[in-house]
Amino acid sequence: MSKLRGDAERWLLSFYRESEISGALFFGRLASVIRDPRLQFDLTRHFADESQHARWWSDCMDELGVRPTRVQASYQDAYLEAGGAPANVMEVLAVTLAFEKRVAGSYAAHLKVHDLAPPIRTTLARIMEDEGWHIHWVSRTLRDLEPEYGPDTVAAAIERYAAADREVYQRALAEHDHIVGTLQHFKAA
Ligand SMILES: [Fe+2]
Ligand SMILES: [Fe+2]
Repeated sequence: MSKLRGDAERWLLSFYRESEISGALFFGRLASVIRDPRLQFDLTRHFADESQHARWWSDCMDELGVRPTRVQASYQDAYLEAGGAPANVMEVLAVTLAFEKRVAGSYAAHLKVHDLAPPIRTTLARIMEDEGWHIHWVSRTLRDLEPEYGPDTVAAAIERYAAADREVYQRALAEHDHIVGTLQHFKAA
């Protein structure tokens, strides 16, 4: 029998798995086309991390005795629609920063739910360690790119995608918070 707290938790875990897969594909494509050696190095590690996260969510669901349900997690596309397609590497990193911050915030919120099933708690905590590094390397690289693009241009791109994030979040990702909120009312199985 499933140890999950109903469809809400199954939807969340499926959503996480799907969004880690989209992240892996996004960073994998970038890692294969970007020639700057330093960026190539970090993007390859980032790609590997997101793939690993998708695997950990699959393992977690398997341990809990559930299969992923079909979910839509094309938020990267929604970000690009709201903020405009990035015109260069710096803008790709600016959109990435907004998205990674949102993911880390969502996982942190979920981790605060009481009586989480142990595999969910462990998986969230493991992934959060990597997500911290994702935000760190992307922020550091954006700073390193300031002399090339100009600090004002970099700051404007970060702000543009932060605004896109707020717009996308209000439209779609708020569903995540709502579902996490409903979990507070369940007792652990
Ligand atoms: Fe991830
Ligand atoms: Fe990440």
